[in-house]
Amino acid sequence: MKVSVSILKEYDNLISAVKKVNKSSADFLHIDVMDGKFVDNKKFPLEVVKDIKSVSTKKIDLHLMVKDHNVIKEYAQLMPEYITFHVEIIDDFKLIDYVKSLGLKVGLAINPKTDINLLIPYLDDIDLVLFMSVEPGYGGQSFKEEVVEKIRKIKKIAPIDLIISIDGGINDKTIELCKYAGCDMVVVGSYVTNSKNYDDSIKELK
Ligand code: DX5
Ligand code: ZN
Repeated sequence: MKVSVSILKEYDNLISAVKKVNKSSADFLHIDVMDGKFVDNKKFPLEVVKDIKSVSTKKIDLHLMVKDHNVIKEYAQLMPEYITFHVEIIDDFKLIDYVKSLGLKVGLAINPKTDINLLIPYLDDIDLVLFMSVEPGYGGQSFKEEVVEKIRKIKKIAPIDLIISIDGGINDKTIELCKYAGCDMVVVGSYVTNSKNYDDSIKELK
């Protein structure tokens, strides 16, 4: 299981959290960007993400909870490993093609209440699907179990190399549901960042 650590709840101690992730066995550093429109929270301006990226030794897994396609294009210039935006804000392939033209891997995120059939047209053209297991916007919420069956349905029809990731409410208990669902990767925030030792909690999940 790949682990991507979200530092959303460490906004006041970002650099120290990034360094702790550097020292751990995390596979990716997950950065959440919110525009105050797609979700009501507003976080991680471009300059802050730039600073984080310059300190991080991990590959960046950028999750954009934003409406405006131009904002996504701006953040794409930072050249993260994965750039994931929401299926709810697209109705064609233009943005996917743009991100791919930069040589980046592209992910589509989907909210708990969104119909999973929206994903189907894009499955052959993307690198990752990010299932939200909480309503996006805040860390520290509880895992919505109904996402498990949705993941299993998509997993059955998805190309074999499509990475299935999940974000929200992952801990030492809900990780079992993620494994059962067939996830390849988990995004974990507060369970890791509230722990005394990041690496111990990451290893528990792997
Ligand atoms: C929620 C964010 C998550 C969040 C996860 O909108 O996308 O990445 O930080 O935090 P936990 O693991 O605390 O639910
Ligand atoms: Zn996220």
